[in-house]
Amino acid sequence: MTLEEIITARRSVRSYTDEPVGEEAILKLLDMARWAPYASESWRFVVVRSQQGRSALASAARQDFVATAPVIIVVGADTDAFATHHSVWHRWDAYKFRGLFYIQETAAAIENLMLAAVEMGLGTCWIGSFNEGEVSKIVEFPASIRPVAMITIGHPAGGQRRVDHAPLEKIVSWEKYASADE
Ligand SMILES: Cc1cc2nc3c(=O)[nH]c(=O)nc-3n(C[C@H](O)[C@H](O)[C@H](O)COP(=O)(O)O)c2cc1C
Repeated sequence: MTLEEIITARRSVRSYTDEPVGEEAILKLLDMARWAPYASESWRFVVVRSQQGRSALASAARQDFVATAPVIIVVGADTDAFATHHSVWHRWDAYKFRGLFYIQETAAAIENLMLAAVEMGLGTCWIGSFNEGEVSKIVEFPASIRPVAMITIGHPAGGQRRVDHAPLEKIVSWEKYASADE
């Protein structure tokens, strides 16, 4: 598959077969994730495969289908990582002020993982709606690590519909922002 084919083929998969996802495949996905651009490599990944763990995470998300995925990766971001990272940037205080880096780099890693999954014939869904405190407790994140997302992973059972994505004319401006609604 070309990169364009992979990007356009990806869609959220919320229905999975019983076929397990092997450890090698999981590690391959995580290896792809870590090649994302980063400011501090704040990303942390917890792989959850137990029935008990998956059910607890589904409950924390109030989304039943989450438990049906054979693998859930809880993606956290270490909010202290930037301060301790051996950055070559001299003006790191100014950068740190932005505060959003751990979210941005973690999201980039997640997208890498999801695109790699497409090439491997696996389906994923980004779960961003959940109770943070509950998820942190389940995977035992320390206070410095904030859960950013959970990624469900499995072999697609089929039937997922293709949802529309806004066309360029609605989301792109040139030189200055212009609302497409005006
Ligand atoms: C930040 C974020 C949070 C999301 N949270 C959820 C979620 O909690 N549950 C869910 O089923 N899908 C969730 N999604 C998936 C979106 O619903 C989905 O990507 C969007 O509808 C576009 O569909 P597509 O992925 O099939 O192209 C989330 C996606 C993102 C980027």
